[in-house]
Amino acid sequence: MFKIAVLPGDGIGTEIVPEAQKVLKAVAKRFNHEFAFTEALVGGAAIDEVGVPLPEETLALCKNSDAVLLGAIGGPKWDNLPAELRPEAAALLALRKELGLYANLRPAYLFPELIHASSLKPEVIEGVDLLVVRELTGGLYFGEKRREKVPGGERAIDVLEYSTYEIERIVHLACEAARKRRKKVTSVDKANVLESSRLWREVANQVALEYPDVEFSHMYVDNCAMQLIRNPRQFDVIVTENMFGDILTDEASMLTGSLGMLPSASIGGKVGMYEPSHGSAPDIAGQGKANPLATILSAAMMLRYSFDLEQEALAVEQAVREVLAEGYRTPDIAEPNQKLVNTREMGDLVARKVEEVEV
Ligand code: IPM
Ligand code: MG
Repeated sequence: MFKIAVLPGDGIGTEIVPEAQKVLKAVAKRFNHEFAFTEALVGGAAIDEVGVPLPEETLALCKNSDAVLLGAIGGPKWDNLPAELRPEAAALLALRKELGLYANLRPAYLFPELIHASSLKPEVIEGVDLLVVRELTGGLYFGEKRREKVPGGERAIDVLEYSTYEIERIVHLACEAARKRRKKVTSVDKANVLESSRLWREVANQVALEYPDVEFSHMYVDNCAMQLIRNPRQFDVIVTENMFGDILTDEASMLTGSLGMLPSASIGGKVGMYEPSHGSAPDIAGQGKANPLATILSAAMMLRYSFDLEQEALAVEQAVREVLAEGYRTPDIAEPNQKLVNTREMGDLVARKVEEVEV
């Protein structure tokens, strides 16, 4: 039996998470597993209910589970709270830190069926299959933040720091991941300007020596942003620091057709956390328009990384592929002459497919 903490959170989180659960239930039925789901409050929803974005019970539940399934956190309603209460920092970043999830895996894989859903030319994105390994518990996100009064106004300070061990472990993880793929790692930094990037590059080079079978290279982040839309097929594994990874993965999602297609796995601690790469999308929340596939594909990553159920993960991914091949689309990936479905219908279709798909 696997214990799964379920944290729907805010906005479309409450719409997409039940669809991923539906798919996991179909997996359990088909492959004879038992998944025990326990739901808990997080983010703005928790602020509204109990006054804090990450209640102690929620954190305790996560720590005592085998994996966490998370929807999305934050929204305009809570945007003006003081920094310590803002749900993004006080819930999402706190969860990542508390659970020791220093590695965030964001695979950008283009399902061939979606080649026309992207805003980019088909010949550019055809065959895209890359993995961004984003450092998740360091850098600007967790450095000291403060403000001070200065003549004429204020000064704001965000500290960007990285230590050797933080760089070592994430680069090792990226190299290991590359060994199971096309054996190519691009380490992304801004070593022409930032001291933290210069340390990153030195340490990365040392780690790379231990992987002679992996082709290892460096790229500046601005160039990487450009190369991602110029020639994305050149990339296999990209490893980078927290903030660069945040920005590059939103960009990379468009290679797959939609931000609604990009799953993620946050690992490195005892308990992994699985969430779509997108946010709470307040503009479409409550309308049944959200694409649940990023969350469903995140659940597949949970099966693979936390439960070591590779065949089950493949079944979910294959089910998604077949549902797309049959022409079903949520609005974000819709094209003319296809079958427009809502969030729930998409979840139903994938769940049903999981039960019959060949693996
Ligand atoms: C992400 C999100 C978060 C991040 C926000 C919501 C704090 O953009 O997971 O990419 O910046 O890490
Ligand atoms: Mg982001």
